[in-house]
Amino acid sequence: LSYWAVIPAAGIGRRMGSEIPKQYLELRGRAIILHTLDRLLAHPSVNGVVVALSRHDGWWEHLEPHYDKPVTRVEGGIERCHSVLNALHELALHADDADWVLVHDAARPCLSHSDLDKLIQTLADDEVGGLLGVPVRDTMKRAEANDRVVDTVERENLWHALTPQMFRLGPLRHALEQAIEAEQLVTDEASAMEHAGYQPRLVEGSAGNIKITRAEDLVLADFYLQQQES
Ligand code: C5P
Repeated sequence: LSYWAVIPAAGIGRRMGSEIPKQYLELRGRAIILHTLDRLLAHPSVNGVVVALSRHDGWWEHLEPHYDKPVTRVEGGIERCHSVLNALHELALHADDADWVLVHDAARPCLSHSDLDKLIQTLADDEVGGLLGVPVRDTMKRAEANDRVVDTVERENLWHALTPQMFRLGPLRHALEQAIEAEQLVTDEASAMEHAGYQPRLVEGSAGNIKITRAEDLVLADFYLQQQES
């Protein structure tokens, strides 16, 4: 049984207000996506990575990543789920339907070895698979369009969904195809699995595994990487 990683990186990162897609911004002298690749490929169980990139991506070819495991490029799709599905089709050419796939955001370069290992170890014998998550600590409000609070959402069982999200190749592919066909809103792989009737398992990870979304997140990411080194 093998483990593969998929990095959806075909988004344009509008929220950063930057010309460059966020995964190509520099963090400690290296493009963010290289930090992300380093972390996934450093795990002995991960056999290789498929990266989904925009057709208009002119940055990747300048990075010249050198790894002793295969890093394959595929074209991304309109939404994240289409990008992931394209990567899964590429994997299906040589991987088994029962193999594990870890889908991880390009813009989460602070994934620690211990979180990745905990996810892999915890889910190794799981029927379904699951994802890294962090329990919500703030009080949560649901609002109307005018920003007026409608109610307070019980936070006891609420989690932030992080990545990697780890599922078996065959079931994940079917779940994504089904969700796209039904035009369901899927912002992560777990939601596609949920729509297909599965109950993904949450594995508590560290809050430092942030997704770089706003410019100030670069400062935070720098801090978390430095902390992991020391
Ligand atoms: O926009 P957001 O941060 O939620 O995107 C999550 C990930 O999905 C990013 O790494 C982005 O590059 C990727 N993505 C993609 N294909 C799209 C849209 C987003 O691979 N069409």
